Amino acid sequence: MIRVLFVCLGNICRSPMAEAVMRDLVERKGLTVHIKVDSAGTSDWHKGEAPHKGTLALLRELGISTSGMLSRPLRTADLSFDYVVCMDASNVENTRKMLRAFDHPHIFRFLDLTDHQKDVPDPWYTGDFQETYELCVEGCEALLEKIIVEHQLERAAH
Ligand code: 4NP
Repeated sequence: MIRVLFVCLGNICRSPMAEAVMRDLVERKGLTVHIKVDSAGTSDWHKGEAPHKGTLALLRELGISTSGMLSRPLRTADLSFDYVVCMDASNVENTRKMLRAFDHPHIFRFLDLTDHQKDVPDPWYTGDFQETYELCVEGCEALLEKIIVEHQLERAAH
């Protein structure tokens, strides 16, 4: 099983959005048996809370499931994830410190996998959940492609 963890600050806006989008994509590619997806926050500010209502509303409208998703803080055991995918540069820095993993090749900034090479804008501040969603889709497509290549899942995907 290949395990992917998305990380943001509060684990209520961006990383749950990426988690839900990735899970949906993985399901549609028939790769659910190979890839498990989770998310966490570098803070515990929203521990136990459901995703932000803006994230929930957008995903519900698109028919993307958010069932069972509750905010949780990053913990040291999360270093066991194969990919720790951070929404912005400060999340990368904080994640490396919290996991004491400064040269782990699979802790990286999400949109560095795309042509955008930037932080995912935080709708907590921008209010623009649509923009964040669209970037999550691009990032998740690139991430899934990377995983398929790195784990030779070409024949499993359909
Ligand atoms: P997220 O957004 O990191 O994408 O979940 C935020 C959520 C909450 C706060 C900041 C960012 N906050 O300051 O509580």
